[in-house]
Amino acid sequence: MERVISGIRPTGNLHLGNYFGAVKNFVRMQDEFECMFFIADWHSLTTHPTPDNIRRSAKTILAEYLACGIDPNKAPIYVQSDVKEVLELYLYLNMNAYLGELERVTSFKEKVRQQPDNVNAGLLTYPSLMAADILMHKADKVPVGKDQEQNMEMARLFARRFNRIYNVEYFKEPQSFYYTSHAVKIPGLDGSGKMGKSNGNCIYLFEDDKTITKKVMRAVTDAGPQAMNSDKPEVIQNLFTIMEAVSSPDTLAYFNDKWNTCEIRYGDMKKQLAQDICAVVAPIREKIEAYQADDAFLESVAKQGAERARERVAKTISEVREIIGFHA
Ligand code: ADP
Ligand code: TRP
Repeated sequence: MERVISGIRPTGNLHLGNYFGAVKNFVRMQDEFECMFFIADWHSLTTHPTPDNIRRSAKTILAEYLACGIDPNKAPIYVQSDVKEVLELYLYLNMNAYLGELERVTSFKEKVRQQPDNVNAGLLTYPSLMAADILMHKADKVPVGKDQEQNMEMARLFARRFNRIYNVEYFKEPQSFYYTSHAVKIPGLDGSGKMGKSNGNCIYLFEDDKTITKKVMRAVTDAGPQAMNSDKPEVIQNLFTIMEAVSSPDTLAYFNDKWNTCEIRYGDMKKQLAQDICAVVAPIREKIEAYQADDAFLESVAKQGAERARERVAKTISEVREIIGFHA
């Protein structure tokens, strides 16, 4: 069976966009492939989080991903820093990763602009750590957002380069994976672009019905359709796009009809939308709360995940050592 690995950036809580755009795909993949997921806490050190930040965010992420339906028996989840084998591969890859190419990575250049006082070597070698995460699993597929494409290209480059230098056919080139037909982009409720943490326009999976309903009822709308069957302006299309993700096709068709016949009442639509978002979020929220209250369970998931990951990567590391000329 094809192998899948993906790293989860430990930044904040999951929102509706993360759920429909990423996590739901993970949940679906765990039935189709041999999956593993990990919390990329070593990567997060580039921004110098506090020890408390680190401990808390791993726990939150674990609880939220499990609540969304990741089943650790099908798809083990581990914390990157629990599987130290990756560091050895990271070191080997770094020996053949060149300053020029690392400096040309767009996300590195962006960080240099955003945080000129903290351009550390970890930031520069982010792509080689990510490549090590993937290559040590000999992964075939990596579900990632479009913003990770360049890092994925670097991973393929490092794989090819290793094979060429040592004249072996050892690493295969990992492919980015999207369920393209399902690639939904959830917009914000503020009439602007996508729902995103830095845009401050998120509906979070931990939020209760009241908070969510209030947010939806405050969503930006306009004066209403000016002609029958007209195109929808962005603010209105946004509501329909979210509705498409959370509501039944009948509900969506009903409000589309109302739009087309100029009979739409935004208040009614928002009420329905709030209800349907809550129907998706409430069961997840309840599970988040239950998992967060169960430290022992979260710890056992992470421990088992790390054991499974270490079993899976041990062979790679010893083979790589041998290829390079060290004792296996
Ligand atoms: P944020 O933009 O809120 O910081 P991240 O960048 O951490 O979210 O995204 C994590 C994953 O969730 C990525 O795979 C990304 O493509 C997906 N994602 C984030 N926001 C959305 C959205 N509004 N619609 C669809 N997918 C999204
Ligand atoms: N760079 C990824 C992100 O920012 C997280 C990540 C780290 C990752 N290592 C990975 C993703 C390996 C996939 C595979 O979202």
